[in-house]
Amino acid sequence: MNQRRQGNGFPTDFLWGVATASYQVEGAVKADGRGPSIWDTFSHTPGTVLHGHTGDVSVDQYHRYEEDVALMREAGLGAYRFSIAWPRIQPDGSGAFNPKGFDYYKRLIDELHRAGISAVATLYHWDLPQPLEDAGGWPSRDTAFRYAEYALACFRELGDHVDMWITLNEPWCSAVLGYWEGHHAPGRRDVGDAWAAGHHLLLAHGLATQAYRAEHGSASPGAGTPIGISLNLYTPRAATNRKEDQDAVDRAWDLGARFFLDPLLGKPYPERHFKAWAPAPPPQVLDGDMEIIATPIDFLGLNYYFENAVASAPVGPEGGDGGGVPTHPEGFRHVPTHHERTAMDWPVVPRGLYRHLHWVWEHTDGRIPLYITENGCAVEDTLTRDGLRCHDSRRVAYLRDHFAAAREAIDEGVDLRGYFVWSLIDNFEWAWGYDRRFGVIYADYLDNRRIPKDSYFYLRDVVSGAERP
Ligand code: FCB
Repeated sequence: MNQRRQGNGFPTDFLWGVATASYQVEGAVKADGRGPSIWDTFSHTPGTVLHGHTGDVSVDQYHRYEEDVALMREAGLGAYRFSIAWPRIQPDGSGAFNPKGFDYYKRLIDELHRAGISAVATLYHWDLPQPLEDAGGWPSRDTAFRYAEYALACFRELGDHVDMWITLNEPWCSAVLGYWEGHHAPGRRDVGDAWAAGHHLLLAHGLATQAYRAEHGSASPGAGTPIGISLNLYTPRAATNRKEDQDAVDRAWDLGARFFLDPLLGKPYPERHFKAWAPAPPPQVLDGDMEIIATPIDFLGLNYYFENAVASAPVGPEGGDGGGVPTHPEGFRHVPTHHERTAMDWPVVPRGLYRHLHWVWEHTDGRIPLYITENGCAVEDTLTRDGLRCHDSRRVAYLRDHFAAAREAIDEGVDLRGYFVWSLIDNFEWAWGYDRRFGVIYADYLDNRRIPKDSYFYLRDVVSGAERP
């Protein structure tokens, strides 16, 4: 590769950013006409979120975005990935749009642009308007069409402002955690509903991308500002080189990766997956759905946190990993590894990111530019006694090793164009509430003070080129 490189070893035009999501940071859940989302309902249901935490206030970015943008500017960041709260834009999930909702995102984006920071907007990061859940939620086909309408309104109203669009964040989580495992909103538990939700999420993505292309008068990538999707593809490695473990890992990729990636590439769903899960019904795929889903995207966003090791296992109730993960009828189980674990109990596997990037690059035939749209870790952070600093050395090490793994993949030809650290600031970590901290900025939830951690200063030095991971 003869790309020009900066002091950090990354290409000169590499995009460095941080990420958040609306329900996790905005607070102000009743402000300016915002309607309720499934996460408002879920977090206010006793027993769902640790300590009964909710996103009602969080770090109040809705009112404090100027402060946050200033912190991003001082770190020299090139981009901010945030999400648009559908219930701010369209409080009922259908019908009237709310101008005050659009206004907020225009103010935020203007502030970002004044600071020289690109606006990367995710259209859906899990806060479905509650009335749509009441009408059936993602297992209902109609939700995909409601989403497309909402997305089109955003393209029209915010299209001149946004620099990159991301249709969905991690549809696997929406479908599996929301409708099958029930750990996330709306907390339903039905396998067939999860597959239906997965299909309708992908259909929603396809319909919106198609509408976007139509707005720009061209069906091909490159028309308009870039549009893509963020996936948490789960690409575990085989525990050993034995054939049966290699076969098991291949089966694990069916739900972990192929279900959500293959249709985007014009390939069918992995049939083997639905067979393994019978009698749960496969999703109802209507004529034309797969073509819509395969509408070309400009980039693929990857959210990577860890990698598991998988071994072959007999199918049956005893086939589970014993750690609360449901049995995998595909016949695999997770096995322990030597890796250090984060506060989420997720293994720290920087080589896994390297393998992941290569896996995706090969699986997509090197056709689609990639971005890491989320990577980071939860640490049990504490402030120094004077309350002014947070020495999160484990996060610094985590980021350094993952940056290095990404750079190695770039050196070997993977077209990785940017990297967004999760997260700008500690926030509402879904079912874990405020108990897990992912930020490079510490949030003091008592007075909403922001305290940059050591990892914030480390990130600043990597972006400037002073540090080479
Ligand atoms: C991802 C989510 C993000 C955050 C991180 C830790 O799955 O997209 O909102 O919760 O995990």
